[in-house]
Amino acid sequence: MTEESPVVVTDSQHYFLPNPEATEACGRAWSAMIRPGLQLSLRGELGAGKTSLVRGLLHGLGVEGAVKSPTYPLLESYNLPHLTIYHFDFYRINHPDELEDAGFRELFNDTSVCLVEWPERAESWLSPADLLIELHVEEQGRRIHISAATPIGQQCLARLPHFCA
Ligand SMILES: Nc1ncnc2c1ncn2[C@@H]1O[C@H](COP(=O)(O)OP(=O)(O)OP(=O)(O)O)[C@@H](O)[C@H]1O
Ligand SMILES: [Mg+2]
Repeated sequence: MTEESPVVVTDSQHYFLPNPEATEACGRAWSAMIRPGLQLSLRGELGAGKTSLVRGLLHGLGVEGAVKSPTYPLLESYNLPHLTIYHFDFYRINHPDELEDAGFRELFNDTSVCLVEWPERAESWLSPADLLIELHVEEQGRRIHISAATPIGQQCLARLPHFCA
């Protein structure tokens, strides 16, 4: 049996986002690094701006119209011509078994992009994310921090467009 090497966070960037528009603009800019197979973890307290960032990412990828929070349905799906994006919010789950029972396992695959809010509610169920995004309230705005946790995440981060709020 081979021993798995530990995941090492290899690089990171952080920015101050003064208002909601800046959060969405950051998401739009970062959509350039999205590719099939990526899994992104979005952490941060209630109302930190996770869905706002996803809204920007999705609009940047070409999703038109409203981007709703998946807090109640747990999942919103977006089918683009060359990519399917799954936006999860696990805040309301009671046990990770609910995710297995819902058939979510197969949605995490090489052809989809999975964006996960509240991953800490399903830590034991989730595979390790490629990119970790954290948002925190800071003064009237938000501080956003992104880091890579896999070699693929590291490649994406290296090509991440620098964002100026
Ligand atoms: N940079 C920012 N500065 C100030 N307000 C912001 C910023 N980014 C987002 N917001 C606002 O914060 C509020 C919550 O945003 P959002 O719903 O995206 O948070 P969330 O982290 O997804 O919350 P939840 O944990 O409930 O899912 C919204 O009113 C949004 O406009
Ligand atoms: Mg949200």
